Amino acid sequence: MSENKASNRMWGGRFASGPDAVMEAINASISFDRKLYAQDIRGSLAHAAMLAQTGIISAEEEKKIAHGLNTILSEIERGDFTFSTRLEDIHMNVEARLAELVGPVAGKLHTARSRNDQVGVDFRLWVKEELQRVDAALTGLIEAFLTRAEEHAASVMPGFTHLQAAQPVTFGHHLMAYVEMFGRDRSRVCDAIERLDECPLGAAALAGTGFPIDRHMTAAALGFREPTRNSIDTVSDRDFALEFLSTAAICATHLSRLAEEIVIWSTPQFGFVRLSDAFSTGSSIMPQKKNPDAAELIRAKTGRVNGHLMALLTVMKGLPLAYSKDMQEDKEAVFDAAETLDLMLAAMTGMVGDMDVNKQAMKKAAGAGFSTATDLADWLVREAGLPFREAHHVTGRAVALAEERKCGLEKLPLETLKQIHPAIHDGVYSVLSVANSVKSRTSYGGTAPAEVRRQIRAWRKRLKRDATRAKNR
Ligand code: ARG
Repeated sequence: MSENKASNRMWGGRFASGPDAVMEAINASISFDRKLYAQDIRGSLAHAAMLAQTGIISAEEEKKIAHGLNTILSEIERGDFTFSTRLEDIHMNVEARLAELVGPVAGKLHTARSRNDQVGVDFRLWVKEELQRVDAALTGLIEAFLTRAEEHAASVMPGFTHLQAAQPVTFGHHLMAYVEMFGRDRSRVCDAIERLDECPLGAAALAGTGFPIDRHMTAAALGFREPTRNSIDTVSDRDFALEFLSTAAICATHLSRLAEEIVIWSTPQFGFVRLSDAFSTGSSIMPQKKNPDAAELIRAKTGRVNGHLMALLTVMKGLPLAYSKDMQEDKEAVFDAAETLDLMLAAMTGMVGDMDVNKQAMKKAAGAGFSTATDLADWLVREAGLPFREAHHVTGRAVALAEERKCGLEKLPLETLKQIHPAIHDGVYSVLSVANSVKSRTSYGGTAPAEVRRQIRAWRKRLKRDATRAKNR
């Protein structure tokens, strides 16, 4: 067989010559789908065992094939395997080596199977494992947040809307907002696993097969809940990859918002947090600088993850059923998004775990900008029976006066406040302090330290419950 012009040994029966070099270059996926080697071999072992069990091949043949496949697995893991572009993809690289190792019996492995269901199995197994890795990483991130939130359940900071100081909140409460987001990310991950947990093996090229295969057997052997139900859908479907990418994109977007906040908080102007040396960089020219590069890169890499989602949606949108080679483009998108997200989650966990929080700076900022104005309005409703709209108006006048005098609301003398509204008495000062403002917001999900602590306890319980459930699965 001459190197370039020989027809393909897997499908070359009707071909007089081999592919052009450019054809080979555009067609081959081995440079990236070699990542699927372990899943490919696992899938083949399960398929061979099923072929023997159903009498499609003999037990003797299965033994030879399984031995060869296990040899290949260790060759690849030792770095002793030569991947060839001429053999296109991981499936044909493994099968060709199998033929070298065990002879013609290797040719029986592909009975009742096509690369279309084979790649479906391999890729689903890989995506499922990645989703499990993301779930674990998110759990670690949530735990890091719970620790920091507990530390700062009562540390006041300005809460923002429009990035303008709005009402005081606690830093713990702000962190718990992200815990909610990461919790939803986790539940999306679990849903995605639930939906992809069906085994494609046996759908064959697209129509199923006439061989008496046992799809339930291979599904169970590979840890899937059940086999897929429609052979055409099976080899056409990449929802599971899209769902991974959209889950990743949403999670990355959450990480990016937090990264942006960390960038803002760590500026000398805000000074709310100081990143550890381990998670920041210096400037080669300005010695005073400490830059939040990890946060900036988390923010930036979100673009990359979101781009992969858009890329695969676009690949899939025009494809007639069933398999088309377009679908080979699914892998690089998913692999790169996965690698990127894993790194983002690890960096965020490290960064948040050891950043220094400047309670003083946050407290000072929390009191600025008349942040307790809503508390004054609420007090007027409660104590003086004003309708909220009127209370809002009265408070507005107090804010204008304080602004004129360049002081905080709590520094306005009682006489002045009484002139604005006669019903105001000295009890009002208790709500004008930031600490009291925060303490008063005891509504379910509110920012009162006691409520934040309750949320933290509930999350700890939830994590424990999820862990036990996972163990019993
Ligand atoms: N490398 C291919 C892919 O990733 C495997 C499936 C090839 N199937 C085919 N009919 N050419 O999509």
